[in-house]
This record gives sequence, structure tokens and C-alpha cells, in this order.
Amino acid sequence: MQVFYNGRFMPAEQVSIDMEDRGYQFADGIYEVVRVYNNRLFHLKPHLERLGRSAAGVELELPWPQEELADVMAQLVKANRPGDGIVYLQITRGVAPRNHPFPARAEPAITMYTKEFPRPTRNVEQGVACITVDDDRWLRCNIKSISLLPNVLAKQKAARAGVYEAIFVRNGRITEGSSSNIFCVYGDTVQTHPANNLILNGITRQALLRLIKQEGFRLVEEPFSVPGLLAADEAIVSSTTSEVTPIVQVDGHAIGEGRPGRVTRALQAAFEAEIRRETGA
Ligand code: PDD
Repeated sequence: MQVFYNGRFMPAEQVSIDMEDRGYQFADGIYEVVRVYNNRLFHLKPHLERLGRSAAGVELELPWPQEELADVMAQLVKANRPGDGIVYLQITRGVAPRNHPFPARAEPAITMYTKEFPRPTRNVEQGVACITVDDDRWLRCNIKSISLLPNVLAKQKAARAGVYEAIFVRNGRITEGSSSNIFCVYGDTVQTHPANNLILNGITRQALLRLIKQEGFRLVEEPFSVPGLLAADEAIVSSTTSEVTPIVQVDGHAIGEGRPGRVTRALQAAFEAEIRRETGA
């Protein structure tokens, strides 16, 4: 498999990461996960735009224009042909002797690779269970930073509980999932946390906002509580890899009738049409 590391394409086995890479030592970096369907990149532009915002958010100057990153990504997909997969792209502040302030001379270090990742067909069809957990993250969750320890700990709680996702709750309000965004549905109204510093504004979330309106549903971007979620008719977890997955149980309580609902099904169909239109998959 070919990967892209610090400006060069090379076999994955040849990559060796420096011990003093600031990503490794400080989690001083940002990343993106882009979906590939049928060997075509999906929603690429908004992912690269978000990467630009994440970089600016941590004062990291990207020496590669977006078009160049897009070109490298296309070349990787062409070389590796993951079929249905992802491209992982990470940029750190580079290699320098360990010291907290930004190094004077370090070049940002870039890593990009592809991975096969099948469609989450079973979850999308049947729905998943989730638990709620305390949102103890920092207050800049809009940045797609590689500092993911709280997210990792939350996801591990979900794994231990035998469920799909951990849903973060801050001051009684649902923010997002440990690696996803969360929606709930009341009748024809779909509600989700507003895109502020408390959540990552998912690219799948943004697509869903469009599709909610397109399908004639009402959109409310306001936080909701745990009892609010438990009382919803339907709920959804969305992300690049989860797509539009129904949530059928939270903390052991059934959501709605405990199976994927009408609004979720309509949004899944609209999302599927968008995948087909953009990638032919
Ligand atoms: N995670 N919120 C968080 C905290 C996330 O980590 C993610 C994505 C999302 C959904 O964003 P998007 O729709 O752009 O994938 C929301 C990626 C997939 C990951 O870390 O693997």
C-alpha cells in the first residue's frame, strides 16, 4: 500500500515517525477522515475547508494549498483502490526538540493513507444502541484536533457497555457523540446541537441539514436534554463512517418504537441518492 508522508509517496512499511514529532509528544496536530465510495472521494471540498479552519484554529500554517492536498488524495486512492474506504489525513506541527512553545523552524509533518472501510449496512438497517457520558472535553471541540483522549475514553465506555456510541452530555445538554453528531426527531422536526465551540461541525451533519430541508422537514439547531432525547420519536448518529445510522436505544431505554423511524428512513434515502450522484456508488 502506498502512503503519503512528508511530501513523498512511499510504501507504508517505509514510514518511520520521529520520536520528537509534536503530534506524537503533544498531540499537536489536526486531522480529517474523508469517505471513499467506489474509489471516488465523497464531500472532499468541505473536508478540506474544515481542515483549513482547524489549522487556523491552532495557528498551524499549511504549506500545501487545498488543491494540492486534493490532488495527493486522488493519487493515493488511484494507487490503492480501496473501493469503499476512507482517506486519513493528519498534519502535525512537525519535529523539534521537546518544548511546549511552537518551534521556530519545524516544518509541519503530513501523513495520508487509505483504508478499506465497508459501508455500515447492518447498523444503517437495524439501528444501534448508545449510552450517555459526561462531556469533559476542552471548549474548542470545533477544531478537529488529534488530541482525542476524552473521546477515546468515552468510546471505551461504550465498547465496555456493548453499545455503538457514547453520547456526550455537558450541563445536562447533549452535545455530540464521541466521534459523531447526534440528532433527534419529534414528529416532522429534526433537532441537533448548533455548530459552535462545543461540537465538531460534521460534514455528514452539514449534509443532513441540507437534506432535512430538502425533504420538507423542519430543522431546529438547539441543544436538547437527556430526557428530551429519551422522549424523541427517533434519533440519529451521523459521521463520515457511520453515515446516517438510527439510534434505537439510549441508556437501555428504547427510542420511539425501538426501531428506525420514518424521518430517519427518508433522510437515509436522500443521503444514499447524494452518494450515488457524487460517486456513482
Ligand atoms: N469523526 N464529532 C466528532 C467528535 C467526530 O470525531 C466526528 C468524526 C464527527 C462527525 O464528523 P464528520 O461527519 O465530518 O465525519 C463529529 C471521524 C470520522 C473520526 O474521528 O474517525
